[in-house]
Amino acid sequence: MTTEKKAVPRHVAIVMDGNGRWAKKRFLPRFFGHKQGVDALVKIVQACIDREIEYLTVFAFSSENWKRPSDEVSGLMGLVLAAVSRYLARMGAMGVRIRIVGDREAVSDKLRNAWNEAESSTAHNSKLTLSVAFNYGGRWDVVQACKAAMQAGVPPAELTEARLSEFMAMNYAPDPDLFIRTGGEVRISNFLLWQVAYTEFVFSDCLWPEFGEAQLDAAIESFRERDRRFGGVKEAPALAGV
Ligand code: FPP
Repeated sequence: MTTEKKAVPRHVAIVMDGNGRWAKKRFLPRFFGHKQGVDALVKIVQACIDREIEYLTVFAFSSENWKRPSDEVSGLMGLVLAAVSRYLARMGAMGVRIRIVGDREAVSDKLRNAWNEAESSTAHNSKLTLSVAFNYGGRWDVVQACKAAMQAGVPPAELTEARLSEFMAMNYAPDPDLFIRTGGEVRISNFLLWQVAYTEFVFSDCLWPEFGEAQLDAAIESFRERDRRFGGVKEAPALAGV
């Protein structure tokens, strides 16, 4: 008997939304929702490895999240630092390569150093590439790619989609196959704008801290049912006599 291996998306991107509401439902400060969100992320990283997904990209802090109250912003920064020191060794042992995408200029030296260490200490890993979008925005990415292309001296006539892609922050990864947003909102919120041109979308009402293997599998199942044509058409059987 042959067991047919089901297709999995190669690259999954997630907007981890709903941490605040998860906390509010429990009469807890929003910070606890983010803390629980980190634990949910660690579980999903393992679940992706188990399913042989090669790339997982998560939106941890957007260019627009600076608008949040300053105590929430500093809480998130502290949480990320704590998460790096708590989970980095475990991620390394799991075979995870960590990469950070976003504008590092505006973050503290401490956080920048933590990112650098997370990237360099896992650079040899290849089981799953976990890209953490931090101080990231899709429009920022397009603008920084254009600037980098200009600085590299690419003549306008030679600037094709493929050439510009080489300067995008995620030039090392294929475009996402599956984009998941938890928390019930149905929007992209400036995440990976360039890269999601032909990505399949799944919007889940589940709040991020409650998102687990069952919800990931449901999203993958929905992805499998999609008819991906990338702007083309499915080959139709030839009509007799035509
Ligand atoms: C959105 O929920 C979530 C965030 C803005 C932060 C997500 C960050 C993490 C889970 C931490 C990631 C940590 C590492 C180390 C990668 P929300 O606050 O907008 O929720 P709400 O819509 O219910 O208010």
